[in-house]
Amino acid sequence: MSEFPVTRTNRPARRPADDALRFGTVFTDHMFLMDFHPGEGWHDARIVPYDNFSLDPATCVLHYAQAVFDGLKAFRGADGVIRLFRPADHAARLNRSCERLCIPELDPALIRQSFEQLVALDHRWVPSKPGTALYLRPTVIATEPFLGVRPSSSYRYFLILSPVGPYYPEGIDPVKILATDQYVRAVPGGLGAAKAAGNYAASIYAAEAAHKAGYTQVLWLDGVHRRYLDEVGTMNIMLRINDEVITPPLAGAILAGITRDSTLRLMRDWGLRVSERPIAIDEVIAAAADGSLAEMWGTGTAAVVSPVGELGYKETRLTINGGRIGALTQRLYDAIVGIQYGTAPDPYGWAEPVRISDNEAA
Ligand code: COI
Repeated sequence: MSEFPVTRTNRPARRPADDALRFGTVFTDHMFLMDFHPGEGWHDARIVPYDNFSLDPATCVLHYAQAVFDGLKAFRGADGVIRLFRPADHAARLNRSCERLCIPELDPALIRQSFEQLVALDHRWVPSKPGTALYLRPTVIATEPFLGVRPSSSYRYFLILSPVGPYYPEGIDPVKILATDQYVRAVPGGLGAAKAAGNYAASIYAAEAAHKAGYTQVLWLDGVHRRYLDEVGTMNIMLRINDEVITPPLAGAILAGITRDSTLRLMRDWGLRVSERPIAIDEVIAAAADGSLAEMWGTGTAAVVSPVGELGYKETRLTINGGRIGALTQRLYDAIVGIQYGTAPDPYGWAEPVRISDNEAA
């Protein structure tokens, strides 16, 4: 596939120091754009300076949230090599989200090329401090200006890049999560399995209430019984009771996390007993009470592997593993970041080096 045309910025921005990086607050010099129109399909792929969009106030996405995105990371290894983590799986998931939202799918090879070419062009923005990365946010929005409710006839795919530090202010320190049976994020048959913008809008009211109560995130329970663990919204959830690792199944309401999949694969290859099965909040509370709940953690691209140190539910506040990171959580974190930064062998071929041409390296 030939390279996409590039219009370079004539005002390159100053890159923040790695130590100053938070999550998603600064963006690189360029972005990737591509448009869809009837009769033309996806066309006009290009890289241009990072800038605002101009949208008609009637634009479909602004009213009915016909929008999907994904999130993946590029890491700078100690060897200087920049690696993308499972880009093909992220491209495939973006297309599955598109299908669910009636958005025309993109050529997966083209999505991957957009990742590689934009990261190669803005490679100086990939931070190198452990725990930092360049976050890629591929997004598709409905762009037709009209107020009827039906699929838009036109769309824009855009890719922006953000150098990031840890997603949670806690970093790798355990986070506090609050299970709620008052609000729901998704129901089977709804949008929960897609990375749809609307899922995140649905989550912020309860997340604000959780913050006010001193928690970092909400642990969503299923939308039907309001009893079984679903996910955290920013990450999938896993826990260990005795020697069984349990995570909710991909039953239509939760996101098929790529880090979820990676950690499951690792644990199965380590010979651990891993169950993808429904788990009720009462089972978790009972396990905490009898001492068998050994550890709990979340997995996600932004969150990586995040220990959960405290779980709230109604009047109960449970401290898990004394509020410290558990041994398995630490082992998973080390294994994942080792592959991502190229400091450990990658038997699965998950970390894909990005080729920087001499032209871009100069
Ligand atoms: C991610 O982990 O990439 C996410 O999209 C979660 C959050 C930042 C929205």
